[in-house]
Amino acid sequence: MTARIIGIGAYAPEQVVTNQDLTKFLDTNDAWIRERTGIGARHVSTSEGTSALATEAAKRAIADAGISPEEIEIVIVATSSPDRAFPSAAADVQGAIGAKHAVAFDITAACSGFIYALHIVQGFIQAGIYKTALIIGAETLSKVLDWTDRSSCILFGDGAGAAVVRADETGVVKTLVGSDGTKNDVLYCQARSLENCLTGGKPELGFMQMDGQEVFKFAVKKVPEIVNAILEETGTDREAVQHYLLHQANIRILEAASRRLKVPMDKIPVNIERYGNTSAASIPILLDEMHRDGRLKRGDTLVMAGFGAGLTWGAALMTW
Ligand code: ACO
Repeated sequence: MTARIIGIGAYAPEQVVTNQDLTKFLDTNDAWIRERTGIGARHVSTSEGTSALATEAAKRAIADAGISPEEIEIVIVATSSPDRAFPSAAADVQGAIGAKHAVAFDITAACSGFIYALHIVQGFIQAGIYKTALIIGAETLSKVLDWTDRSSCILFGDGAGAAVVRADETGVVKTLVGSDGTKNDVLYCQARSLENCLTGGKPELGFMQMDGQEVFKFAVKKVPEIVNAILEETGTDREAVQHYLLHQANIRILEAASRRLKVPMDKIPVNIERYGNTSAASIPILLDEMHRDGRLKRGDTLVMAGFGAGLTWGAALMTW
């Protein structure tokens, strides 16, 4: 038995902030952002939290799968921007959708989170522990961005994507994940001050800090490396893959992956122009768009690959 995605859904907050909107308070311009990143606009949550976005995406995925929430045995939310330190966003979702037989918890693997969640449920399904799972990538990174730092705030957007995963004969062929915690300072967000209020410290909330060039160098090397590894380890020809769904971080990273992998851009779908980088949500949002507009056909072979803070990376090869 393996994990098969049987339903998919996505949701992004209504408010759209264009590059032009950013120029009202930031020393930047539309041409710079488009040229360096491929981003034209991003969705930004004003009042909804990560759990609310995750819940809406989950409801859409459950409707698409045509199952009852009570059939779900495990809910995993991958997020780096939960509304609260505890309880988990997954607990919020479980309660809101009425998945009353499910165990629920979050994972943090930044932009690789959705692949990590798929990797985890694949293990549970292969072991025969659970048959039906709900995995969600959800972020409101706009709330942890330093909106005065033009080198990072222009990149990110809010959104959520969810998948109902069920035990089946075909589906995920292989997942491959990895981490390098020695590079944990390349991209991070301090949750609160390390000082203790008991001994005079002040509670302070942190904002995202990023060494953009280091992340860029890592991504253009790691994405082709893991895609090649998963093709090789599954004995799959690159031409046999219909779609390479890569984490939507920067159009230049996607184009570099295309060149290095010798895979044409028409096999690497792009929606970063409208969403920016939605971190753990980017791959399931893309899956949802392609599912709804008919680009994904049952039986297609897909490769998904993500990378992010940690550093983390992950890839999956599956039959749709
Ligand atoms: N508008 C205008 N100018 C800008 C902006 C901006 N928004 N941001 C930076 N600049 C300027 C800089 O000040 C610099 O000016 P200078 O030459 O006068 O000093 C110049 O543009 C070039 O800056 P660089 O930092 O060298 O620009 P670079 O080409 O590296 O692009 C970027 C920066 C877009 C951040 C790039 O490094 C990148 O995409 N990195 C990857 C980031 C990423 O993907 N992060 C997410 C990881 S996934 C996760 O886990 C969340």
